[in-house]
Amino acid sequence: MEGTYYLSKEGVEEYVNMAKEVNSEPLIEKLKEHLAPQAMLLELGSGPGTDWRILSQTFTAVGSDYSMEFVKYLKRNNPAGTFLHLDAITLDTFLRFDGVYANKVMQHLTDDEIKRSLEKHTVILNKGGVICHSYWKGEGDEIHKGLFVNYQTEESLQALYEEHFEVLKIETYKEFEEEDSLVIIAKVKREE
Ligand SMILES: C[S@@+](CC[C@H](N)C(=O)[O-])C[C@H]1O[C@@H](n2cnc3c(N)ncnc32)[C@H](O)[C@@H]1O
Repeated sequence: MEGTYYLSKEGVEEYVNMAKEVNSEPLIEKLKEHLAPQAMLLELGSGPGTDWRILSQTFTAVGSDYSMEFVKYLKRNNPAGTFLHLDAITLDTFLRFDGVYANKVMQHLTDDEIKRSLEKHTVILNKGGVICHSYWKGEGDEIHKGLFVNYQTEESLQALYEEHFEVLKIETYKEFEEEDSLVIIAKVKREE
């Protein structure tokens, strides 16, 4: 669901300042348990690029965002990096990856859009490919700063992912408050 917040220069500046203190290293450590060093990793919704920089220390990480303002910001601040202008729903790229990481990005999609996206994940992921996606934990959805936010539970994530993925773990963690977030790590199912 589209909102304009991340698409404007002002929105990008505000988000970059707001997200400065967030530390995603514990989340990335969980991914490292399931994805080999140097693996080709696509990050969706890289935003300020804080996670991309950490991911790049271990993986061959390609960043991306659906906001051209964020893509420009990412390229300006990381001239050696590769960043794609990519929508998480359509995942329109010819590149193929061993993993896909999306920290608080898929939450902006409706359940139907998440299903479309997960189907496209099966196309861009190599055999045995792994995803690590995080969400806000809760029920229902709301509009925040003009943006759609879709909350998930352990059960709703299991139901959304199990068609195309073998769920390896769904865990709660703290971003700002105890148990306010969920991470799912799953392996693509594909018969070949
Ligand atoms: C809450 S921010 C998270 C940014 C970053 N992952 C982080 O953890 O700081 C959401 C990010 O997802 C991006 N985004 C929102 N909808 C998207 C979509 N459909 N496809 C790709 N990126 C999207 C936004 O531009 C923004 O960078």
